[in-house]
Amino acid sequence: MNFHTRKWIKPQDLNPNQTLFGGRLLEWIDEECALYSIIQLENPKTVTKYMSEIDFRSSAKQGDIIEIGIEVVKFGTASITLKSEVRNKMTRESIITIDKIVMVALDEHGKPKPHGKTKVEFVKDRLADK
Ligand SMILES: CC(C)(COP(=O)(O)OP(=O)(O)OC[C@H]1O[C@@H](n2cnc3c(N)ncnc32)[C@H](O)[C@@H]1OP(=O)(O)O)[C@@H](O)C(=O)NCCC(=O)NCCS
Repeated sequence: MNFHTRKWIKPQDLNPNQTLFGGRLLEWIDEECALYSIIQLENPKTVTKYMSEIDFRSSAKQGDIIEIGIEVVKFGTASITLKSEVRNKMTRESIITIDKIVMVALDEHGKPKPHGKTKVEFVKDRLADK
């Protein structure tokens, strides 16, 4: 799994227990999955379809640095299935795992659009091929 994005836990990210608010973390994961899928599928109209069970294993406190990991489980016809783990950057303690996140590429009418992708691609390779 690649951990691309780091976040710094700030006062506005906390719940009344003074630990990281779960909704904020899900927002960050969803955005990370959307960006990753849009880049992989080369379709800016890619949306979240499904998220499996979410397991908050531990939390984070103000000042902690966390990192968000994404891995491709499979490429479908119009979909891409990802898994995610978020962990504390310094201790590597796991904060959350989500085993299945399905993102779907859409056409101009909002219907699933086949993306034709079968493997992870890197932007630098696409540019080199031009
Ligand atoms: C995304 C959307 C167009 C899919 O419509 P749909 O009628 O389910 O389309 P399909 O049945 O053709 O499925 C499309 C793909 O999603 C997958 N999928 C559909 N329902 C799924 C589910 N419950 N779990 C996992 N994958 C699912 C299908 O397997 C299919 O994958 P494939 O193309 O790789 O084979 C529609 O559900 C939608 O617009 N949802 C709202 C999405 C959105 O706005 N998200 C933002 C958050 S609100």
